[in-house]
Amino acid sequence: MKLFIPGPTEVSSEVLNEMARPAIGHRTAECAELWKTARAGLGRLMQTRNEVLILTAPASAMMEGAIRNTVKTRSLHLINGAFSKRWFDIAKSCGVDAIAATKPMGEGFTADDLRAALSEYGPVDAITVVHNETSTGVMNPIQDYRAVLADFPDTLLLVDTVSSMAGAPVYVDDWGIDVCLFGIQKCMALPAGLAIAAVSESALNRAQEIEHRGWFLDFLRLQKANLKEQSPTTPSTAHLYALVRQLERIEEEGLKNRWARHEEMAQFIRNWAVGHGWEMFPAPELCSNTVSCIARGDGPDFVPALDALKEQGFLLSNGYGDLKGKTFRIGHMGEHSMKCIREITSLMDEALSICPT
Ligand SMILES: Cc1ncc(COP(=O)(O)O)c(C=O)c1O
Repeated sequence: MKLFIPGPTEVSSEVLNEMARPAIGHRTAECAELWKTARAGLGRLMQTRNEVLILTAPASAMMEGAIRNTVKTRSLHLINGAFSKRWFDIAKSCGVDAIAATKPMGEGFTADDLRAALSEYGPVDAITVVHNETSTGVMNPIQDYRAVLADFPDTLLLVDTVSSMAGAPVYVDDWGIDVCLFGIQKCMALPAGLAIAAVSESALNRAQEIEHRGWFLDFLRLQKANLKEQSPTTPSTAHLYALVRQLERIEEEGLKNRWARHEEMAQFIRNWAVGHGWEMFPAPELCSNTVSCIARGDGPDFVPALDALKEQGFLLSNGYGDLKGKTFRIGHMGEHSMKCIREITSLMDEALSICPT
């Protein structure tokens, strides 16, 4: 099955081969070297000098870790889709006073929206926001938030970049992100299995003030183990080998070239979708460059064509949750190129011409 869902996505055979290397001891010099190389590469990818943490876990684990380590009593959650809602649910389940600022799916949060939410609900220890809402194809303008947060110095900025990191610009230090987290199964084009975070000094200082941070997700424990270039628990060395190779491949391509490739694919998909009478679900200025969420508009029913493509071995995504049947999503990320985007769209055109609409 060829994956055009918004993650997990295609993995290159070169990277897959790395995962077949023999297991190594996780307290060896070889593993420490791998850990160190991975963390250095991740710092460059995220444009940060902050502490880089790696967990063998899904991204949701790091979402929980971010809450446990930075929220003493109260958190504010910008919710405009399924994953931002998940972060709110995680916070509630951790027992903090979690407050939701909600917008309809398809909309985003401007800096003014952030200021209004903080003024209404603050003071809070942290705000959570999803950079790229995979459920709706909305990219929030995180780059504009720093100026607002300058007026709220005790509020930390926690950002989920799960489906944007390595596919769209994210400047952790310049944007003032205190916890920037992601998984590796989206634009990183690796099999799911590692959760990564860059954590600022302010966030680590906050963790010092929180007694019950848990054990597995304790950022200070992870930071301490980093001093020895180790994980407190046994990491997936198969993933570490693959990660290091993929970080090299990303640097070989050039990060800016990679972002431009994603943007070109996104632009092509948008034109193609509008040409069919469909509409982009988000407003133009919020459309993601890594996942397109396309609404029916005046266009044909796409569900039979999605089913036909699945039969042929190409997987695209129906809408998420309530948006099923009303929208569909194409992941154009990671290893995808203009060539395969042209292929998948013409296959979809063929399927549309045959299927009843
Ligand atoms: C934006 C976003 N955040 C979080 C997650 C959760 O990731 P995981 O399944 O690795 O926990 C996803 C998964 O699709 C996502 O798209």
